[in-house]
Amino acid sequence: MPNLTIAIAKGRLQTEAVALLARAGLRIPSGAQSSRRLAIEDESGCYRFIFVKPADVPVYVEHGIADCGFVGRDVLLESDADLLQPLTLNIGCCRIVVASPLEMPGNGSGILRVATKYPNIAARHFGALGQPVEIIGVSGSVELAPVLGLADCIVDLVETGRTLQENGLHIVEVIADSSARLVVNRASYQLKAKPIGSLIDALKAAAKESEF
Ligand code: PRP
Repeated sequence: MPNLTIAIAKGRLQTEAVALLARAGLRIPSGAQSSRRLAIEDESGCYRFIFVKPADVPVYVEHGIADCGFVGRDVLLESDADLLQPLTLNIGCCRIVVASPLEMPGNGSGILRVATKYPNIAARHFGALGQPVEIIGVSGSVELAPVLGLADCIVDLVETGRTLQENGLHIVEVIADSSARLVVNRASYQLKAKPIGSLIDALKAAAKESEF
């Protein structure tokens, strides 16, 4: 029976997270990564990994189904899950931005139409500016929304900037920087203090090593 269950966000973070875990000594059996299995154990049998959509990592960890998780700060800013965040990792680095085809987005009505998969981050950002907005929730290919007239601007992630560039959008404002966090369930942190402490130490050492 594995000691710890670790949730990993599928997608952009997955490869870097698995590589960092391997450097920390937690090896996922070769072949398992390319399979369609969503729950696998490491070679030692001490750890179980579950691969879930990024927005579901806080859900699994908050409910204690997973003890720990790897997820981007963007997802945590959008979520209201109550989690511990003991480690900031130098992987999955990107920015959360407002982007638009125009330098100053607007449609003359005073109400900005904002397409995003981050409705809470967007509402907080424009709320703090006192800018009235209509938030239009989309779940992917967000850059299409202003191009096709669904919205005046977007709030989305930028990593290389290529998606913005290829769709004729410019960064209007950077809302926040994002990178991966190790998140931990509050009860697990107390009840499994030893294995979680060892995992944090191993990840810190592996992250440090990769800086050189
Ligand atoms: C993300 C984000 C942007 C893109 C940015 O989408 O929403 O669309 O990556 O990356 P870039 O700056 O390197 O071009 P993702 O690939 O997660 O897919 P999605 O459009 O389905 O959300």
